[in-house]
Amino acid sequence: MGNIAIIYASVHHNNTKKLVEGIALKCDVDLFDVFEASNIDLTHYKIIGFASGIYMSAFHKSLFDFIENHTDLPNKSFLMYTSGSGSQKYAETFKKQLEMQNITVIGVYNCKGYDTYGVWKLIDGISKKHPSQKDISKGIDFIDKVVVGKI
Ligand SMILES: Cc1cc2nc3c(=O)[nH]c(=O)nc-3n(C[C@H](O)[C@H](O)[C@H](O)COP(=O)(O)O)c2cc1C
Repeated sequence: MGNIAIIYASVHHNNTKKLVEGIALKCDVDLFDVFEASNIDLTHYKIIGFASGIYMSAFHKSLFDFIENHTDLPNKSFLMYTSGSGSQKYAETFKKQLEMQNITVIGVYNCKGYDTYGVWKLIDGISKKHPSQKDISKGIDFIDKVVVGKI
């Protein structure tokens, strides 16, 4: 077991799961699907990453519930997300929630993810080839440079 865990929620096209699994092939991170993580002991991890698709401009509700129900998390975290639009603004509400629980967010990584929600379905979706290998490589760089350096 390493120092870094990532809890992820990926319910639309497994985009976020693809991203974190690609990262885990190269980085020493332990992955947990949020829907299977409720009883997992995370206390020995030095830092926890939260990864999510974006649904109505926010991280998945299951992650909000998770942090509310886990009061013994390490006080350092990082965030990752995939979204159809690739907007940079989607981590803010989740970040505020963590900070209210005295958990610092040391960095945020995001990339696009294939999106067929709502009207996008009519045109076969947007951001079709994402996360791409390049998106995953940038995620690996983020872990190596931003996260590992701050443990
Ligand atoms: C219900 C729903 C709402 C979404 N809302 C947004 C949104 O507000 N902004 C955006 O850029 N993408 C939005 N998306 C697209 C997803 O964020 C994108 O496809 C993401 O990569 C999904 O990740 P996942 O496959 O890991 O669940 C939405 C998708 C769904 C299903």
